[in-house]
Amino acid sequence: MKQKFDIGLIGLAVMGQNLVLNMNDHGYRVAVYNRTSSKLEDFLKGPAAGRDSIEGADDLKQFISMLERPRKVFLMVKAGDVVDQVISQILPFLEEGDVIIDGGNSLFTDSSRRMKNLAEKNILFIGTGVSGGEEGARRGPSIMPGGNPAAWTHVKSILQDISAKTIKGEPCCDWVGDEGSGHYVKMIHNGIEYGDMQLISEAYHLMKSVLKLDHDRMHEIFEKWNKGPLDSYLIEITSDILSYKDADGEPLLEKILDTAGQKGTGKWTGINALETGTPLTLISEAVFARCLSALKQERVAASECFTGPENETPENVEELIDDLEKALLASKIVSYAQGFMLMRQGALENQWELNYEAVARMWRGGCIIRSRFLDNISDAFSNNKELASLIVDPYFSKILQDSQAAWRRIINLGVQTGIPLPAMSSGLMFFDGYRSASLPANMLQAQRDYFGAHTYERNDSPRGKFYHTDWTGEGGNVSSTTYNV
Ligand code: 6PG
Repeated sequence: MKQKFDIGLIGLAVMGQNLVLNMNDHGYRVAVYNRTSSKLEDFLKGPAAGRDSIEGADDLKQFISMLERPRKVFLMVKAGDVVDQVISQILPFLEEGDVIIDGGNSLFTDSSRRMKNLAEKNILFIGTGVSGGEEGARRGPSIMPGGNPAAWTHVKSILQDISAKTIKGEPCCDWVGDEGSGHYVKMIHNGIEYGDMQLISEAYHLMKSVLKLDHDRMHEIFEKWNKGPLDSYLIEITSDILSYKDADGEPLLEKILDTAGQKGTGKWTGINALETGTPLTLISEAVFARCLSALKQERVAASECFTGPENETPENVEELIDDLEKALLASKIVSYAQGFMLMRQGALENQWELNYEAVARMWRGGCIIRSRFLDNISDAFSNNKELASLIVDPYFSKILQDSQAAWRRIINLGVQTGIPLPAMSSGLMFFDGYRSASLPANMLQAQRDYFGAHTYERNDSPRGKFYHTDWTGEGGNVSSTTYNV
């Protein structure tokens, strides 16, 4: 009898193809299926040529029958309805105990629903984040699986084998938790990715338009930053992008239209932050900055209505470059702190037990936000499992304390020169708010009580005791109910 295959993968777009080759490199026999059969043929005759332990199937029944029990079916199809469609197409051929793994960028609530529905049929479902793009999928991505815990033993070795490894050799893949928690963690990863990318873009904007640096100099600066605490994949590729020349010898970057696209995971992060009442300001600004950039026509029209301040090159350019590095790092700390705050809130609301130290380790290699900095985050949670915010961790709080003067100078520079720094400044505003023992919300509460009898608590009375004042002498004594969304 023909030897069965260890795993089957459906969906041979870029990520799917590279994951198959990666699994095969690690000794796994992989069966593949793609809805458009020409793509399947192209793959088998192209990238998979000469690999006997990769085989394709023309129809789903045959594909499933090729798999070793319990069957493990990895879906790399477009997130959304397509995932449900493919699941319902393969279900008739699956048996109890078989495992479906969705590796696309699915919405976590969809993954929770799928896990529960499939559990009723005794099919084990995993929703997993896979990060690292084409190169990561091929050489080792970061993998964030969550779902039915009974599925983990069946896929643990394969997922950990194909994942990236940290410098210490640990796999950048570990069990995240129940239901859609794997996709939830990936959603937050992507939100952080949006924040990092926006912060870097703002630094580039200031360097180009205020410090008037040329591309070679900017390339050198990012290269240097990549050897310090900002060391990360996104800083590294930024340095490469800055040195890349088009066919005419000019920087390609300046020929790229300044309107950003987005596939939705950043938006989901922002929506979830609003739903859970988490002040995820920096990442949300990063999402809105993409939206604003997309209004190109309106911006061009508005640019003709206004003149901004004159931008004379400052005298202390070298000092400002150092300030910018500090401002970038400080903002990045706030962004990650907010991301982990949201994760903690998500875990609380969904009753998931998330291991934040392990999440930081999973992101240490293979993924788009991989950086040296994640080691420090992992250490922070290892030192204090109950850490309320990364901001108050001793390592990060010292950096914030030491960088805040430079951070303020950079935000000032942006304001004075009219260069928008939405993410960097919202990071500073959050920092100033979070470190303030007292905020003007007393005024807000007074206003709410004044016009709507919404009541307030007092400084000189225990928490939970609510007061209403008849501010005008013309109101009644009836107060509104006290509840918070
Ligand atoms: C990753 C990325 C990836 C993401 C793309 C596009 O971790 O490999 O996060 O999953 O989908 O980068 O994202 P946007 O189109 O939203 O920028």
